[in-house]
Amino acid sequence: MWNIVAVGQLLATVSALTISDAHTNSSSSLLNGIVFEDINHSGDGGIYGELLANRAFQGLNRSTANYTGINGAQLSLVNVSLSKALTQSLKVEGDGFWNSGWWGIKIEPDEYTARFYHKQANSTSPSLKVSLKGVSSGKTYASAVPKAVRENNGVYVAQSNGFQLYEAKLKPTESAPDLDNGFYVEGNGFFNLISLFGSTLNNRPNGLRKDIAEAVKGFDPHFLRFPGANNLEGDAIRQRWKWNETIGPLINRPGREDPWGYPQTDGLGLHEYFDWIEDMNLEPILGLYAGYSLADVVVPESDLQPYIDDVINEIEYITGDASSTYGRLRAQNGRQDPWNLKYVEIGNEDFISELAQTTYDGYRYDLFYKAIKSKFPQLTTIATTKPNEFPKNDTEWWDQHKYLTPSQFIKDFNVYDSYPRNNTKVFVGEYAATNFDNGTHIQYPTAYSAVSEAVYMLGLERNSDQVVASCYAPILQNVKSTQWYPNMISFDAGSITLSTSYYVQKLFSSSQGNRILSLENAEFDPLYYVANLNSNSDTVHIKIANPTGKTLNFTADIGVGGFSTASASAEAICSTHADAQNIPFQSQRVSLEQWPVKYKNRKISLQIGPYFVGVVTLKKQGEALTTTSGTALYSTNSTAAVPISSTPVMTSSESSPVVANAGFALRPPSFFAAAARLLHIF
Ligand code: AHR
Repeated sequence: MWNIVAVGQLLATVSALTISDAHTNSSSSLLNGIVFEDINHSGDGGIYGELLANRAFQGLNRSTANYTGINGAQLSLVNVSLSKALTQSLKVEGDGFWNSGWWGIKIEPDEYTARFYHKQANSTSPSLKVSLKGVSSGKTYASAVPKAVRENNGVYVAQSNGFQLYEAKLKPTESAPDLDNGFYVEGNGFFNLISLFGSTLNNRPNGLRKDIAEAVKGFDPHFLRFPGANNLEGDAIRQRWKWNETIGPLINRPGREDPWGYPQTDGLGLHEYFDWIEDMNLEPILGLYAGYSLADVVVPESDLQPYIDDVINEIEYITGDASSTYGRLRAQNGRQDPWNLKYVEIGNEDFISELAQTTYDGYRYDLFYKAIKSKFPQLTTIATTKPNEFPKNDTEWWDQHKYLTPSQFIKDFNVYDSYPRNNTKVFVGEYAATNFDNGTHIQYPTAYSAVSEAVYMLGLERNSDQVVASCYAPILQNVKSTQWYPNMISFDAGSITLSTSYYVQKLFSSSQGNRILSLENAEFDPLYYVANLNSNSDTVHIKIANPTGKTLNFTADIGVGGFSTASASAEAICSTHADAQNIPFQSQRVSLEQWPVKYKNRKISLQIGPYFVGVVTLKKQGEALTTTSGTALYSTNSTAAVPISSTPVMTSSESSPVVANAGFALRPPSFFAAAARLLHIF
């Protein structure tokens, strides 16, 4: 859409800018990543590939929800245990039952794997049949007679407590016109762990729903922070995420009531998270429960040791070799080699209440920190608020969350320019523009809100010697059950919608460099930009954001060795409407497009449209690259808050006061009860 001059806005020009490699700063390879917690049915009913809801009757309020009897068959939930963890089963008296999935089931030509555990109510031999059918239409798309499974495969055991595992492959040859479909089981007796998977990423048997996983992979993230956030903490201490209840065969995973108001299966457990990490080539950042839960309850110091032991065991399970106690257990559960783990985060948002903050400062952080460091000195630890005497040493990060208005994000472009260059690195572990400047909540990211995030991200990147990682939150939203707006990717059982913020993440994440280039004669506002060099791919990226409705010109001289004959291309999002949104399942108003750019005689020029975020890529051709590495590009005079030229660097002696999470004043105080949290819904 190269029609921006037609809007008749004033053309302005950024001139005299030189992008140079006279001095460069390091840039973290982890700059953009994912924070994932099961919120908005992002896990169960989302990226976890299970297509059936309420498959094993877990959580606090158990029921036969999502099941209907065939031909009036009577369904009830009874205390017949499949295992120690799954204690209630579906009793079917009559012809059978069907499950309605996560607000429907998408049927398309694909191979679906159905599994369930079954026990006869009497001594007759079972007669079972499974089908995928339209509910209103009654049309059968595929059916099969399930077979009793004889082998244990680590995730499914063949028999348990008198129950037999059955499996069937269903192969529809045509697509259903809508999601009004069900998974039908003809037969009676007792049923449990009733499961249906379609295609998964890399065909993993207990894997990720392919379309959602591919969208996540598609924005080229570099790390996965998991399993939360609030979901790690739970409302009550007993409802925290318990790593050891998310491993091994699915029948051993009791599931739990999450803090977002629905039960979780924990089918997406520790092994599945690491499969995800390996499949997308991500760096894991593991959140560790640190004794605080969201009902504003805390584990007293005298009772904390078992919780500390638990995280030590968790880390040993992940990183220990197969001769260690927990490494052996991991090997028994199918993973011989330790996983890579370098970063662990102690708690989540421990500034959220006075109790959280004072106990984190008082004993929790310190006790976890010491125990982790003494057993695993190689790990980088991440604090979630600023405890006393922080930092403890030079391997620590500090996770700062920013949920702000667009104008605050634009203002914060230079917030890290004057940030102390001491050894405590910054991790912006959650951020998003959540409220318009007038206070109204943002439901779906707009062109303007996404550009404002981009301006902030440019500020993070130009300081990425110090700001080492950042991630938008939350990333996923099932539109049928959303507790938190806005999100990067919206979906239902059938399809997905990518937001304006998604495209900003994709643009910036896939154009990461390892050196930040200096900007001579730079002026910011109305345009914001950063330039990096990726010396591995011999590319220079110039990232530009325009948070105004004006059309502007951008020109810059390129003084980077080896790039005089580079090829130039650009990709961007742009909209003439500040409030343009990609509303789920409507036509996309904003998406990525190739953007015209000229590169001649070491000068790039392009016209920047309104509400624009773009990346110009120069790809080296021919001559050898000579890059000067260095750090001090920026006046260390503390009165020079924003560098006119180049990349900001400050020394530790120039520490300026930092206000932790100042942006939180804009958010509802919604952390002590699920009910209050639901205020985020429109
Ligand atoms: O991202 C949603 C929630 O926001 C996270 O669970 C929590 O850490 C933050 O308050």
